[in-house]
Amino acid sequence: MKYSLIASLILQSTLVLAELLPVHFTAPSAAHFQALVANDTFDFGCRAVAHPLEDGRFKLRAFLTEEQISHVQSEYDQLSDIKLVRETPFSKRAATAPIGTGDRFSGGTIAPSGLGTKAAGSTIASIMNVNEIGSALKGLNSVYGVNLITLPYKTFNGATQTAGYVGAGTDKSNYHLYFSAGVHARERGGPDNIIYWISDLLAAQKAGSGLTYGKKTYTNAQVTTILNAGIVFFPLVNPDGVTYDQSTGSNWRKNRNTKSGSSGAAVGVDINRNFDFLWNFPKYFDSSTAPASTSPSSETFYGTAAASEPETKNHVSIYDSFPKIRWFMDIHSAVGDVLYSWGDDDDQSTTSTMNFLNSAYDGKRGPTGDSTYKEYIPATDLTNIRSVATAMVNSMKAVGGRSYSAQQAVGLYATSGASDDYSFSRYWAKSGVNKVYGYTLEFAPSGNFYPTAAEFNTNILDTNAGFMDWALQAIAIGVE
Ligand SMILES: *[C@@H]1O[C@H](CO)[C@@H](O)[C@H](O)[C@H]1NC(C)=O
Ligand SMILES: [Zn+2]
Repeated sequence: MKYSLIASLILQSTLVLAELLPVHFTAPSAAHFQALVANDTFDFGCRAVAHPLEDGRFKLRAFLTEEQISHVQSEYDQLSDIKLVRETPFSKRAATAPIGTGDRFSGGTIAPSGLGTKAAGSTIASIMNVNEIGSALKGLNSVYGVNLITLPYKTFNGATQTAGYVGAGTDKSNYHLYFSAGVHARERGGPDNIIYWISDLLAAQKAGSGLTYGKKTYTNAQVTTILNAGIVFFPLVNPDGVTYDQSTGSNWRKNRNTKSGSSGAAVGVDINRNFDFLWNFPKYFDSSTAPASTSPSSETFYGTAAASEPETKNHVSIYDSFPKIRWFMDIHSAVGDVLYSWGDDDDQSTTSTMNFLNSAYDGKRGPTGDSTYKEYIPATDLTNIRSVATAMVNSMKAVGGRSYSAQQAVGLYATSGASDDYSFSRYWAKSGVNKVYGYTLEFAPSGNFYPTAAEFNTNILDTNAGFMDWALQAIAIGVE
């Protein structure tokens, strides 16, 4: 497909962070967007996703500077039938949910209390600040006995990272469900979603009650079933990035590592392109695709080596500490999707030798809709992961009527080095490790990384019901 933008020299690292403006493109097919998506200087949010519209066209969301918009517009004659639509700039949108200013958990003497155990219509007033996330974990420990572990690596700015585990006692081999959040700094409310859900499970267990999220209700027996499966959670993977984003409001995504770039957009690595799954993408992927970026100023900069980043290493260390994790969920925003394996190319279940480890396919991965390469997934695994994704989506839709969809992570554009593919790939890449089914949740269909207070609360309700049904269906399929 030749809808290409004229290639010119890629501008090297800009020194000032220009304001990001939300826009979307529409086109008659998703393939029309290929050249746009291949430009790794553009920001397509968590990952580029083309959604079908009711009129038969496709929509691709992006976050561009004024300069990038004029570049795209000046190339319009090259962009046959692609239309750029400006959305309301972030600065002109309704007030976003505030960030907490104090410590609502008083240094960990108070546990968080979620929406599932509160009367309908109750709300949480603000998003947790970084210090409060730490206090929330301490509160869960002091009030409910949640176990906390300090992860082995400190972040670039020296933050200590903590994960919690609860439900299945002290033997770490009894833990089968793993959640992480706060990877992309600007995706506000991710850590809150998981922390309030864990709090709800524990409050319901203590009270012998069930949980209610909008129109979805759960019994105490279901709460017990989920806790018994053993939950590990790493709620703030990127504290340096979140600290920066919360203090600047700059829609910051990456971590704050300055080794490859010391200022502006060149700071930071995209943790979700840094995992050891086809990390060295120029070698593994077709050159027409941009599953990540080698440029430090890109939002998808892949880092200096697979798992070069402390946050990535800490994330991976959890699989080593909890060897029987079977189901993994990485919590992102803002699309309204549940994504399942694989993310590097289309799925296929017929040719087991056509897989990410086979060097015969190096340089061929990435383009979708062709048969040159598709990633192998055993048919049973595909059935299993789809059924859990569907259960989660149906649950989130039922809470209050927002729309969500389940789809394969590749969508139409490949990614490399992402946490979900890494989790599922371990079983084939390393000997003697458990098979992990990995997901990415993109909560908040608004396309807005900074939700309003009302959206923030709806996100908690929707995701928490989604986690319930994700876990229940996963357990029904099997955790051993
Ligand atoms: C990507 O877009 C920028 C404008 O923001 C442009 O300068 C650059 O040439 C484009 N890169 C390619 C490979 O088309
Ligand atoms: Zn994300």
